[in-house]
Amino acid sequence: MKSIAATALGTWFACTLALAQQPAVTASPPGMADRVAACIACHGKEGRATADGYYPRIAGKPAGYLLNQLQGFRDGHRRYPMMNYLLTNLSDDYLQQIANFFAAQHPPYPPPPPPEANAALLERGRILVSEGDRQRRIPACSACHGARLGGVQPAIPGLLGLPRDYTNAQLGAWRNGERSARAPDCMAAIARELTPEDINAASSWLSGQTVPADYVPASSLSTPLPRQCGSLPQAAGVSP
Ligand code: HEC
Ligand code: HEC
Repeated sequence: MKSIAATALGTWFACTLALAQQPAVTASPPGMADRVAACIACHGKEGRATADGYYPRIAGKPAGYLLNQLQGFRDGHRRYPMMNYLLTNLSDDYLQQIANFFAAQHPPYPPPPPPEANAALLERGRILVSEGDRQRRIPACSACHGARLGGVQPAIPGLLGLPRDYTNAQLGAWRNGERSARAPDCMAAIARELTPEDINAASSWLSGQTVPADYVPASSLSTPLPRQCGSLPQAAGVSP
C-alpha cells in the first residue's frame, strides 16, 4: 500500500507539471493518455478503478458530471486533499479535456464483490433505490439516476460498479458538508433525509449488482426529475 501511494505521488507531481504546462485547447489533444498517467495510478487503467476498494471508477461517466467534479475539487466544493492539490490552477478548458477523455473510455466492469450485508438490509436497499420511500417523500434513486441506474447525460452519474465504501462515504460527505454541488443541491437534501441505515442499505445493494455489458448513461430521462438539481443544465426538464 505504502509503495503504491509513493508511486502515485511521484507520478502525480510529474503529471501536475505536465498538466500545468499544457496550453488550453478545446479538442482532446494527442498524448492525452500520457498526461493522465497520474490519474491512472489511483483510478486504474483507463479510469476503470482498481481492486483497492475505495478509489472510484471514472471511466464512462457523463462528461458534464466529471467536469463538475473536477471543478468541485479544484474550487474546494468537494474535499479530498490529493485531488484538491492535483487540480489546483488547472483551467476549465483543460478540465473539460480530461472529462471528455475519461467519459469516452468504456473498459469492462469486473464482477461485483460478494455482498457483505444480510438479505433484509439488501432488500431495504433495493426498495429505496428503485421505489424510494413514499411516506417520507424520498424519491427513488432511479427517478434521477435512470431506470437502469446507468446515469443520464449530461451530468447525472450511474450508481452501479462503485465500491460500497465509496458510495457510503459520498452520501456521508453530503450530509456533513464535505461535498456539495451547485444549489439547489438535491443530493445534499436527499442524503440528509436518509438515515445511516438507509445509506448502508442502498450502498450495499448497489455495490452488489452485476453491471450490464451495455452500461452507459441514458441520453435523457423519460419522466421529469422529482426535484431540482442545480448541477444540471436548465434544459434537463424539471417538474414544477
Ligand atoms: C492519490 C490518488 C488519486 C490520484 C492521483 C487521482 N485521484 Fe481522482 N480521486 C481519488 C479519490 C480517493 C477520489 C474519491 C474522493 C472522495 O472521497 O470524494 C477521487 C475522485 C475523483 C473523481 C470523482 C469521481 C466521481 O465519481 O465522482 C474524479 C472525476 C477524479 N477523481 C478524477 C481524477 C483525475 C482526472 C486525476 C488525474 C488528473 C485523478 N483523479 C487523480 C484519488 C486520486
Ligand atoms: C432529484 C434527483 C436525484 C435523486 C432522487 C437521487 N440523486 Fe444521486 N445524484 C443526483 C445528481 C444530479 C448527482 C450529481 C451531483 C454532482 O454533480 O455532484 C448525483 C450524484 C450521486 C452520487 C455520487 C456518485 C459518484 O460517483 O460520486 C451518489 C453516490 C448518489 N447520487 C446516490 C444516490 C442515491 C443512493 C439516491 C437514492 C437514495 C439518489 N442518489 C437519488 C441526483 C439525484
